[in-house]
Amino acid sequence: MNAIVPGLSERADWQAAPVADLVAYIVKRFHERHRVQLPELIRLSRKVEHLHEPDPDCPVGLTEMLEGLQQALESHMLKEEQVLFPMFVQGMGTLARGPVAVMRFEHQEQDGAINDIRRLTHELSLPAGACNSWRALYGGLKTFMEDLAQHIHLENEVLFLNASNAAEGAHHGRV
Ligand SMILES: [Fe+2]
Ligand SMILES: [Fe+2]
Repeated sequence: MNAIVPGLSERADWQAAPVADLVAYIVKRFHERHRVQLPELIRLSRKVEHLHEPDPDCPVGLTEMLEGLQQALESHMLKEEQVLFPMFVQGMGTLARGPVAVMRFEHQEQDGAINDIRRLTHELSLPAGACNSWRALYGGLKTFMEDLAQHIHLENEVLFLNASNAAEGAHHGRV
């Protein structure tokens, strides 16, 4: 797999980049980061729910919701890393229509999870005098939600289209 090109992070740059480079960037910049972010967010959420349950601002149910998201996202990312992305890198994008449709559907569910986080945290609004854990939790959730939204956008709007176009081009080139 080609080395990641430093600085290529904007959508306009990625439109013209090789699929293998974009795949490597997504795994490093988003998959690996989500795998670090979620355990820490779950730890903080459990602590905040435990300490502040009587507080009307407490995000009751957030820990359970994040644990479900962690499981679903890990399974989703493994399918991408083990099945879909290797197909893209090998130029088999036209055979990937079914798996891509499944990934797009799961991205809608991930969008739903972002909305659930917003609702449970009352749009990440901290009460006056919130403790450090609560502040760290909401700061971390803000970054995570921005990362996840960018991740979904880059796959839906750039990677899936580029991989399909690259495969079409290769196919026509051979015929
Ligand atoms: Fe992904
Ligand atoms: Fe995805």
